[in-house]
Amino acid sequence: MKVAVVGCGYVGLVTGAGLASLGHDVGGIETDQERRRGIAAGLPPFHEPQLPELLAKQLAGGRFRVSADLGDTADAEVVLLAVQTPANEDGAIDLQYVESAADGLAQVFAARPARRVVAVRSTVVPGTVDERVAPRFPGPDTAVASNPEFLREGSAVEDFLRPDRVVVGCHEPWGARVLEELYRPLGAPVVVTTPATAELAKYASNAFLATLISFSNEIARAAEGIAGVDVEDVLRILHDDRRLSPVVDGSIVRPGILSYLKAGCGYGGSCLPKDLSALLAARRVAGAEHPLLEAVRAVNDGQPARVVDLVEDALGEVRSRKIGVLGLAFKGGTDDVRSSPGLRVVDELLRRGAEVIVYDPLVGEDALRAYDGRVGFARELEALLDEVEAAVVTTNAPEFSALDGDRRAVIVDGRRFLPPDRLRESDRAIGRGPVNSA
Ligand code: UDX
Repeated sequence: MKVAVVGCGYVGLVTGAGLASLGHDVGGIETDQERRRGIAAGLPPFHEPQLPELLAKQLAGGRFRVSADLGDTADAEVVLLAVQTPANEDGAIDLQYVESAADGLAQVFAARPARRVVAVRSTVVPGTVDERVAPRFPGPDTAVASNPEFLREGSAVEDFLRPDRVVVGCHEPWGARVLEELYRPLGAPVVVTTPATAELAKYASNAFLATLISFSNEIARAAEGIAGVDVEDVLRILHDDRRLSPVVDGSIVRPGILSYLKAGCGYGGSCLPKDLSALLAARRVAGAEHPLLEAVRAVNDGQPARVVDLVEDALGEVRSRKIGVLGLAFKGGTDDVRSSPGLRVVDELLRRGAEVIVYDPLVGEDALRAYDGRVGFARELEALLDEVEAAVVTTNAPEFSALDGDRRAVIVDGRRFLPPDRLRESDRAIGRGPVNSA
C-alpha cells in the first residue's frame, strides 16, 4: 500500500521504516531540515537499537523516503499522523501540531479527491479524533481513525514488528478494513473499536504502568521505616502470587509487567509523566476528579527528594559535598533525558547545595547545557567514583550492575539495580530499612 507518515520523530520514523519493511511504499514527511538530511542518509536523530539498520535497508530498497512537502501525501491510501503533542505549562496537551497537520492534509486532499484513511498515531486525549480531526475532513472520501502506538524506547523496532495487538479506532467500517490490511503482515490481533476507546486505552495503559511504579514506591516507603525489611523481598513475595506469576507446563512464568512492580526513583520518559498529566488536565476541564491518578503523580514527584534524603541519611547534609549521579537518561539503554528521574535528582541535590557530577554511558555533556556549568560531567564511571563521597544510581544501565565493594564512595541505589550482596552496610537503597538493627 502507499502510505505517508507525517512527522519523522520517534514514533513516525519507527512506524514508517517498520511499515516499509512489511513491503509498503512509505513516504515520511518531516519539516526539520537537519533531521530530514540525517534520515535520508540513514541516520536516525536518536539512539534506538535496530533502527539504523532497518532504516538503511528500507532506504536502499526504495520503500522509504523522506521529504518536506505535505503535498507528497496526495498519492497515499493511508496517512498516519505522528507529530509531536507537547504539554502546555499546566500539563494539558497542546494539539496545535496535530491540528495544523490535519489542516494541511485537508488542503492537499481537496485538490486531489480520492478515498483515504487518516489515522492519528500520536498520543492524544480522548475525543481528539472525533472533535478536532474528523471535522476537518467532512466528506465521505476520508475516514479518520485513531491508531495509537505502544512502543517502548529501547525496543521500539521489536515492539513495532511484534505488537501485542494493533488498535484501530474508526467509525467507518471501510476505514478500519484499510488499516487492518495495512498491518496484516504483522500477523497480530487487530482490535477494532471507536476512536475515543482507542485513545483512552493508550492513556489507561500508561497510567497503569505509572500506578504500578508508584504503588511499589509507596510500599518502599513503608519498608524503609521498618528495621530489617527490604522492599525487594516484600515485592518478590507479591510477584510469586500465581495470579501474577502463573505456572505454565510446570514452570513459573514471570511476565514482563512484574518489572514495573519494583521500587525506584520514580518513572520518567517522554510518555508516562506527560500522558498522566494530559489525561488529568483534560478530565479537570471536564469537571472530573481522579484522586488515585493524582496520588500516583504525587508519589512520583516526591521520589527524587526521597533519594536525596537517603544520601543525607548516609553522609549528613549534602551542602558543599561532592555527590555523583549515575544515569541521566530516563532508563538504561537510551539517551533520552526527557522527564528523567536522574535529572530531577540532580536538581534536588543542587537545591540542597551539593556539588554534583554526573555520568551516563549513553548521554553526552550536551544534556547539561541548561545548567550553565553548574554540574560536572564525567566521561568515565571510575573517574567519577574516585571524586565523589556518594554516588546515586538512577537507571538500570548495565554498567552500573558491576559496581562492587572496592570503592570509597557510598552508593545510594535509587533503582534497586545492584544485587543486594554488593551493597555494603554504609550504602543505602530505596525501600531498604536500617540494616544493623535487624
Ligand atoms: C512507555 C510504555 O511502556 C509504552 O507502551 C508506551 O507506548 C510509551 O511509554 P517508554 O516511555 O519507552 O514506554 O518507557 P518504559 O520502558 O515503559 O519506562 C517508563 C518508566 O518506567 C521509566 O522511568 C522506567 O525506568 C520505568 N520502568 C520501565 C520500570 O520501572 N520497570 C520496567 O521494567 C521498565
